[in-house]
Amino acid sequence: AMGKEDVVREELGSLHGIPLYKCFVEGWPQVEAFQARADDLLIATYPKSGTTWLSEILDMIYHDGDVEKCRRDAIFNRVPFLEMKVPEMLSGIELLEKTPSPRLVKTHLPVWLLPTSFQDKDCKVIYMARNPKDVVVSYYYFYQMAKVHPDPGTLGEFLETFMAGKVAYGSWYEHVRGWWEKKQEKQLLYLFYEDMKKDPQQEVQKILQFLGKEVAEGTVARILHHTSFQEMRKNPAANYETMPTTLMDHSLSPFLRKGISGDWKNHFTVAQNECFDQHYQEHMAGSDLHFQMEA
Ligand code: A3P
Repeated sequence: AMGKEDVVREELGSLHGIPLYKCFVEGWPQVEAFQARADDLLIATYPKSGTTWLSEILDMIYHDGDVEKCRRDAIFNRVPFLEMKVPEMLSGIELLEKTPSPRLVKTHLPVWLLPTSFQDKDCKVIYMARNPKDVVVSYYYFYQMAKVHPDPGTLGEFLETFMAGKVAYGSWYEHVRGWWEKKQEKQLLYLFYEDMKKDPQQEVQKILQFLGKEVAEGTVARILHHTSFQEMRKNPAANYETMPTTLMDHSLSPFLRKGISGDWKNHFTVAQNECFDQHYQEHMAGSDLHFQMEA
């Protein structure tokens, strides 16, 4: 078996043409055969789009705003990551088998790779998307701190890799567009990070309505407070601080890094931005999916 150090800074493998960590690819047969339950709720995102934030909000909703219950374990154990598999840790599948229903399940898979049983069981899905400029900056820092990734190089080089769809999970465009096309289905709620930043109360109400859940007065306020960037950043159950340092080095960049919209402006040069805009327009042509690039 591979030791932990062997997954560090390895080149990505490929899952049906999607660049992905080799250890995840190895675990794919179990993921493909995963048996979803009808009351599973799937949290789907492209990486760095607010997955952890949405996960904490949902765990709070599932526990009626009980902060102590939501400290029972780290977020990556409370909301198992479906396709996750690294040496010496329980895989997402193994963790899910041990998780009592109703389960929250996290995935970054593009819609066309989703195990079929989610469809068969008609599971509810909440998708969260974030504008690609902030995603690429967030991903750049994440590549540095999460050592399952190859070296990202300079930001300029990483922008090229991202635009070419050669980062882990492949093309951002195909991901957000693929899930957007599925949103006609009643069982899918499509949210945006930028909306959540602007009006978290409204977005949490959307989620409650989608889940058909009512909560006591004051609970929404408690959820919003507990899931604010400041609170999550200092919460060891939410900030990934308990992840083995062989996998994540927070001294390089904290997992909860900045938590704002428009940070790309502090990173892109004018030329990089023009190039990115052009590429964006080409790849979003004909779509009614639109992104707010800043707050
Ligand atoms: P930044 O790197 O821009 O700060 P994911 O959970 O999908 O990996 O996404 C991580 C991004 O979401 C990071 O973005 C992180 O800071 C941000 N994030 C996490 N919790 C947040 C919160 N409560 N409010 C705002 N942003 C949050």
